[in-house]
Amino acid sequence: MSSINIALDGPAAAGKSTIAKQVASRLSMIYVDTGAMYRAITYKYLQNGKPENFNELINNTSLELTYDEQKGQRILLDEQDITDYLRENDVTNNVSYVASKEPVRSFAVKLQKKLAAKKGIVMDGRDIGTVVLPNAELKVYMIASVKERAERRQKENELRGIDSNLEQLKQEIEARDHYDMNRDISPLRKANDASTLDTTGKSIEEVTQEILDMVNQIK
Ligand code: C5P
Repeated sequence: MSSINIALDGPAAAGKSTIAKQVASRLSMIYVDTGAMYRAITYKYLQNGKPENFNELINNTSLELTYDEQKGQRILLDEQDITDYLRENDVTNNVSYVASKEPVRSFAVKLQKKLAAKKGIVMDGRDIGTVVLPNAELKVYMIASVKERAERRQKENELRGIDSNLEQLKQEIEARDHYDMNRDISPLRKANDASTLDTTGKSIEEVTQEILDMVNQIK
């Protein structure tokens, strides 16, 4: 489906990236994880000792997306592959703050629009249907209960060998959503023309199929 773009938005840990990867691979489209871009800038912000001048931080930043057959999307920050650090707790707990800053958003959105210009992209994030790709051919707003989102995150952590507390995960997810939904610039919200997809209790295959069905309807 090289002639369309798909925008996938929703709160934290709703399964967006898992589903986006499946949909992209089934339709021979390219998956773009925009959260990873904000995480990469957050990584740099932390490495630089949390500077408050975001213009300066951004002006000296280069961000590049590459694709590895096995590992998928990789992020090069200032020419270094820092993808493996992007899921660390410190990054996760600071990313919403960094992503609320105007210089950070305009930098990332510009890059995202450029990546999607030729179509054939499945992009997930918080403002894809509202701001980045307002003309996307398909917009889906994915939600799931906080309990299930925290449980999924805990399982993911287990697979990575990281111990995590379910209550704490719930609190972190809720705090991040609250921040993302209430920031001044491009807050997380459903685009008027997006379809809501509640993934609670559904398998990856079921949700993927629901989106593929939606794609078939727009053809
Ligand atoms: O999707 P992920 O959990 O990796 O996103 C990390 C954070 O990046 C979000 O909590 C949000 O603050 C920010 N983000 C954003 N806009 C996007 C994607 C992510 O503000 N399009």
